Amino acid sequence: MTEDKHLANINIDKQNAFNAVNATGGIKSLDEYRKLYDHQWGLTVPEGPYPGMLSNYTSDLLFSMERLSTAPASVARVGANNALLFAVDNAASITGLSLEQLQTQGRLFVIDYLDQKDLPRSSNIKFGAACQAYFYIHTESGDFLPLAIKPNVEGSDLVYTPEDEENDWTLAKLMFNLNDVWFTQWFHLVAGHETAEIVYLAAIRTLSEEHPLMAFLHRLMKLAWAMRHSAEKRLINVGGPVDQLFPWAGSSAGVYTDGLYQSGLGSKFRANYLKTNLKSRGLLDSAFGPKLKSFPFLEDASLVTAEIRTFMKSFVSSYYPTPSDVTSDLELQAWILEAGPAEIKDFPTSVKDVDGIVDIMTHMCYLVAVQHGVLNSNSPVASTASLPLHPLAFYAPLPAEKGVTDVSE
Ligand SMILES: [Fe+2]
Repeated sequence: MTEDKHLANINIDKQNAFNAVNATGGIKSLDEYRKLYDHQWGLTVPEGPYPGMLSNYTSDLLFSMERLSTAPASVARVGANNALLFAVDNAASITGLSLEQLQTQGRLFVIDYLDQKDLPRSSNIKFGAACQAYFYIHTESGDFLPLAIKPNVEGSDLVYTPEDEENDWTLAKLMFNLNDVWFTQWFHLVAGHETAEIVYLAAIRTLSEEHPLMAFLHRLMKLAWAMRHSAEKRLINVGGPVDQLFPWAGSSAGVYTDGLYQSGLGSKFRANYLKTNLKSRGLLDSAFGPKLKSFPFLEDASLVTAEIRTFMKSFVSSYYPTPSDVTSDLELQAWILEAGPAEIKDFPTSVKDVDGIVDIMTHMCYLVAVQHGVLNSNSPVASTASLPLHPLAFYAPLPAEKGVTDVSE
């Protein structure tokens, strides 16, 4: 019912925005996409896109820093021995270092969405690429910047860089962002819903209603629970929002999401602890390469998660004064054992003290609240799905040659 009410508000806002855009002559350039937001979306997104998303959308730094703030789940530092995905002939002209030198110095980062190349399409009028991209840490400024994007459009091996004409480079960033929001949203579904849900289901099967952790889990899962059913009915259904918005079919979203779950990328429990995960991608405490000078997602998420951990430690300790209280809690131990047959990926195999419980409970809060709030909730409309920088589809075949004259056409 909450969804119905929200949908009704969206339809009101949508019609008002449509009327306002038409009343001012429509949208004829990327800049004019601001009309979509000017005094619009009062019921559903009253604060509009995040500051800068409309005024600063041409900035390379804004584009790259999205990977370290609003869409942080895919970027990774390229290791010294990793194979490079594609060549960038003009890397030295852009950065002062060749691609290989950037790698050797630990300054090179990568995102790879090639797995979106052959997804079934939702229609033959919508198009998308399957971008691979490099980012780098600048030798002097220390800024985290984009280096190159390879869209992998059928029949083309084009590589775009900031040295291209502005229209071409902008198109490349838009193509990348489409792939990025696709990945980010299904990653969010796996991590923030499916993974949390299976842990919760195991708890329901093992903890009594009177167990002190149960009250927490019930509250945490109030809005995260049973999202698969809702998604199948209202999101990835035939003719539903995904079919309408994206170049790829809603039915393929289920398969793609399942892939992110089965691979463990979005579902591994301990490997996706905030700092563990960032370390595994070379983004935190990396012995290789320079430190990221600014990492907004980490800065905010670690602050919130640390406070949650402090609270959780106090709460759990009040129920388990000694480690033997933990090991003798049959319901708690049954929950941990249930993770095996429940096939929770990478769940702790034993919990022998308060910290073991705190780790699990803190991560559940992180999954459904902290990370979810960044990747989903109202964040996409304010950032990763805001126009003009983040189209959800292109309505013309993507070019196999450079020289685009108007990105908005
Ligand atoms: Fe969600």
